Amino acid sequence: MELSVGEVAQRAGVNPSAIRFYEAKGLITSHRNSGNQRRFDRSVLRRVSFILVAQRVGLSLGEIAAALETLPHGEAAPTKADWQRLSEAWRPRLELQIEILRRLKDNLDGCIGCGCLSLDSCALYNPDDELAELGSGAVKLDPLKDD
Ligand code: FES
Repeated sequence: MELSVGEVAQRAGVNPSAIRFYEAKGLITSHRNSGNQRRFDRSVLRRVSFILVAQRVGLSLGEIAAALETLPHGEAAPTKADWQRLSEAWRPRLELQIEILRRLKDNLDGCIGCGCLSLDSCALYNPDDELAELGSGAVKLDPLKDD
């Protein structure tokens, strides 16, 4: 059974424009029927689910495309084994994102009520005061300084 772009969108819970966008980016493919209407194989639903979950994890469309390219069966949907392999590879990335957000939250606590927005001392811009040893002022914005 084949699906129209609207049916895919409805089943996936996204707008049809998202399905057309994924196709334009080469993440999913369709073919044209005799009436020149776009038609998708049912397996596209699992592929779209994969894309939506990967986006939620924070992967860019380029990273998602690269992950889909590793599938041994080309255009087909990721199997359970594919999903386990790819999602396991994302675990360190998620843990890093969680750590970055935790630090950001801790630093934000120091900013609330401060308002200095100082490029050399704001905890959000300069966590752990890493730039202090490079001098005063906006050292990161000085084009003559080596990075
Ligand atoms: S606004 Fe002052 S430390 Fe961030």
